[in-house]
Amino acid sequence: MKKIVTVSTLALLLAGCNPGDQQADDTTKTEQKSDETKQSNDETKKEDTAKDTNKDETNKTDETAKDDTSEEAKQEDNSSDAATQEDQGSSDETKKEEEQKDDTPASENKTEDNKDESTDKPDSSSQDPEQEKPSKPEDETPDVDKSANAKANLSLGNLVVVNKKYGLPIDYKPSDLVVPNVSFSYSGVLEQSYMRAPAAKQMEKMFAAAKKEGVTLNAVSGFRSGARQKVLYNNYVARDGKAAADQYSARPGNSEHQTGLAFDISAPSVGNGLTAALGDTKEGKWIANNAAKYGFIVRYDRGFQSRTGYTYEPWHIRYVGVDVATQIKNNGQTLEEYMKVGH
Ligand code: DAL
Ligand code: ZN
Repeated sequence: MKKIVTVSTLALLLAGCNPGDQQADDTTKTEQKSDETKQSNDETKKEDTAKDTNKDETNKTDETAKDDTSEEAKQEDNSSDAATQEDQGSSDETKKEEEQKDDTPASENKTEDNKDESTDKPDSSSQDPEQEKPSKPEDETPDVDKSANAKANLSLGNLVVVNKKYGLPIDYKPSDLVVPNVSFSYSGVLEQSYMRAPAAKQMEKMFAAAKKEGVTLNAVSGFRSGARQKVLYNNYVARDGKAAADQYSARPGNSEHQTGLAFDISAPSVGNGLTAALGDTKEGKWIANNAAKYGFIVRYDRGFQSRTGYTYEPWHIRYVGVDVATQIKNNGQTLEEYMKVGH
């Protein structure tokens, strides 16, 4: 796989991020506290694979949020990176080109950083979302979701749970990000091209196996910084309103993409779009049937909304390792259910 390529825009985005020394050995077995015990800091065991859990997660969110506010503000103030500009809807040609890399064609589900503002409108696309639901000033957007009352436990390695309830420090960034050697839906390297090294290696195997079976996949969006998530989330709230945005987009600090363990993938058959339609294609079915063999789960599967908090995303795969992915798939579980934590 390719080593990290530093580009000026990327460097700006990544500046100030935490060192990856928070990240524990991926192979470390972990002890998982139950949802309730996390709240009370009372530890319990989780199966035979569990270890130290989100135990220090409580009572730190507010403090983290304060720190993050200033750090994130610095990053945003100092950054003129293309990704940020593209998300803010600039119309100049360079930005348009970048947008095409990052924003794929329409989907009926509005998701993540792959949105085409011109085509990926809500069902109420004829309405003006700004009139319907005025966007809030950016400084009112939480840096870390205040409803996320717990801190994600990075010591869980590949099994870390990041969701609406468990959040990451806004400036957390894994230290072992690489660009997987797979085909992408765009050319060049962006922040979103990266993934943690062990997961990237498995993604390479998965893409190669798919290709061998005549299934063409394209990588679209992997690692995403907290700052970038903030920009994306704000845009979705401005467009669709907060309640709708929360159904498909994580708040800053609460996106699994920030772990470097998730990747959005798609296929030419749906224009490389992040669309629910992918799930009904040959490629989408291949992903659903085969991803676990390479250690990935379809994180927000069909019908899982009440159990994950997010609408169906056949394109969003999350690395958890082959054994766990196989168990989760065979049991029809969510990651939260496997880890016995809330969402
Ligand atoms: N679309 C997923 C939930 C995210 O924003 O991370
Ligand atoms: Zn995703």
